[in-house]
Amino acid sequence: MAEFSLPQNSKVQKGKTFNAPEGAKNVRKFHVYRWNEDDGKNPQMDTYEVDMDDCGPMVLDALIKIKNEIDPTLTFRRSCREGVCGSCAMNIDGTNTLACTKACDEVSSNEVAINPLPHMGVVKDLVVDMSHFYAQYASIEPWMKTKTPTPSGKERLQSREDREKLDGLYECILCACCSTSCPSYWWNSDKYLGPAMLLQSYRWLIDSRDEFTGERLDELQDPFRLYRCHTILNCTSACPKGLNPGEAIGEIKKMMLEREI
Ligand code: SF4
Ligand code: F3S
Ligand code: FES
Repeated sequence: MAEFSLPQNSKVQKGKTFNAPEGAKNVRKFHVYRWNEDDGKNPQMDTYEVDMDDCGPMVLDALIKIKNEIDPTLTFRRSCREGVCGSCAMNIDGTNTLACTKACDEVSSNEVAINPLPHMGVVKDLVVDMSHFYAQYASIEPWMKTKTPTPSGKERLQSREDREKLDGLYECILCACCSTSCPSYWWNSDKYLGPAMLLQSYRWLIDSRDEFTGERLDELQDPFRLYRCHTILNCTSACPKGLNPGEAIGEIKKMMLEREI
């Protein structure tokens, strides 16, 4: 099996190695990106040998074990440990995914490379700066907007068929795995909304109770916000929740066309 090596010309250096405890028989190596603005050094990949006979099955279990028992300085986000909060998104073995739902055994090599989500500013180690991503989320106004008065004493109702149109959209946990796997988003994230926000936009565009469909489409009618999607579809392959942002974007483009003809 090939030994883990850093790409040539990488600014990331080889860092420290933390060996497995003596006598451990089932050892897996985790190569983890480390960077701390405060120490003024270049990023490095530290290697942690983990005894998998004494560790849970998921990559997040290994990271938590490393932090608790080997190196408390390792920094990463996590909360729910069951794929619903989106906070443990990172790049594992070259793929953006959730550390809590990625089993170590799904990585074919015995050596697991773990990096922050690509093309995002790093705050520390595996923690990336999500401020711009969240600002983009706020910009699509992700709440129901209406013009007609709320029916008195009642909720706004929706048929079963209309409710079903939200399936495959409402489950998005805003983990950013899709957007940070999209080359268009890498180069134009200042102006292009990216697949996560476009899937979220479509969730409101298609909601039968929302009465601002036209205005929402107007907001997307611009060379960058929507049309920087070139149907590359990395987003759909990356989504750890099995959603299809590429298809949602196609549906928005269809809505744009339909209102023109
Ligand atoms: Fe994450 Fe999938 Fe939502 Fe993208 S569409 S933010 S990958 S859950
Ligand atoms: Fe990017 Fe997905 Fe479009 S990868 S270009 S958002 S189909
Ligand atoms: Fe919540 Fe992984 S910890 S999605």
